[in-house]
Amino acid sequence: MPTLLLSKKDVKGLLSMPAVIEVVEQALKEHAAGHARMPHKVYLDTESGDFRAMPASLSGAAGMKWVCAYPGNPAKGLPNVMATIIYSDPATGYPLAIMDAMDITAYRTGATAAIASKYLARPDSTTLGLIGAGQQAYSQLTAHDELFRLKKIKVFDMSPAAVERFVKSFPRHQVEACSLQQAAAADIVCTLTTSRKPFLKRQWILPGTHINAVGADGPGKQELEPSVLKEAMLVVDDLQQAVAGGEVNVPMSRGLFKVEQIYATLGEIVTGRKPGRRDRNAITVFDSTGLAIEDIAVARMIYEKARASGGYQSINFMDEAVGGAPAKNLGSIP
Ligand SMILES: NC(=O)c1ccc[n+]([C@@H]2O[C@H](COP(=O)([O-])OP(=O)(O)OC[C@H]3O[C@@H](n4cnc5c(N)ncnc54)[C@H](O)[C@@H]3O)[C@@H](O)[C@H]2O)c1
Repeated sequence: MPTLLLSKKDVKGLLSMPAVIEVVEQALKEHAAGHARMPHKVYLDTESGDFRAMPASLSGAAGMKWVCAYPGNPAKGLPNVMATIIYSDPATGYPLAIMDAMDITAYRTGATAAIASKYLARPDSTTLGLIGAGQQAYSQLTAHDELFRLKKIKVFDMSPAAVERFVKSFPRHQVEACSLQQAAAADIVCTLTTSRKPFLKRQWILPGTHINAVGADGPGKQELEPSVLKEAMLVVDDLQQAVAGGEVNVPMSRGLFKVEQIYATLGEIVTGRKPGRRDRNAITVFDSTGLAIEDIAVARMIYEKARASGGYQSINFMDEAVGGAPAKNLGSIP
């Protein structure tokens, strides 16, 4: 039986943001209903960055993402975040596919934040502030564009070149380069940096703002002043992951924030167990750390689409174990 090998280009060709938003929201519901399994992320620190192993299973799907965050990589011409998924049959454990997961990571993170915005931001939000104009900014704009009638996108990055690239990539949108403070004055603000020092000041945040805090996804990372969290209705994607490495990890380790101050998980909100925004003037924050169930839900969709359309590379990984012909070169699924 062949194992599909899906390159970055293959995966990109099979991804679409509306479909990713749909499968990620479904996965959040499955997880909240107790129908998914997701052991804790395992972090492996190295001198230049870190790796995470992220296993999960959902109905009919199992797999693991192996992903790194290497902030110094862009200077070497490599992306900060690189990832691969091993996707397996949960009934037999058979490796069905090995696929690039860089775009899966980018798309599912944008999709999850946009889903959080759907429940937590004001529905008539028209301005999007993006702080950090790296890979994440592209998928955040694409995902929010699916769910909101965006009129203006304000973008700030410490690298003017990153902002320039970003603005040029969206010629049909009203995207403006601006200061950090100006980007913070938007209906929906996404923080998308590798920062370890809080830069988003409480005094800049307008009443009714929703913030997607995405950049802090590992111990020691932080983007928001703790006073923003204290006042906000705070929703996390996963309690344990948030405490270990989300936006709350540094304030909590310093005794500036308590776990009881977390209002809900996103799963509780999307399943209606707890209400989302009720007050137009409330400040809401979604603390995103990235869930393996999101990756595996998207991997399932990619695998099914690839199988249905055919024409992708494969390898007979287990040929001897299952009595097939010895592995030769890469074949093709007919
Ligand atoms: N929560 C999640 O699920 C999730 C998923 C993917 C990535 N991430 C995290 O999101 C962050 C961004 O990821 P990416 O792939 O876009 O990285 P990237 O390296 O492509 O982009 C990061 C950008 O942030 C800018 N930046 C860094 N510090 C800044 C600061 N203090 N102020 C303004 N700009 C600053 C950099 O110049 C760069 O353009 C990383 O920390 C990554 O680990 C989180």
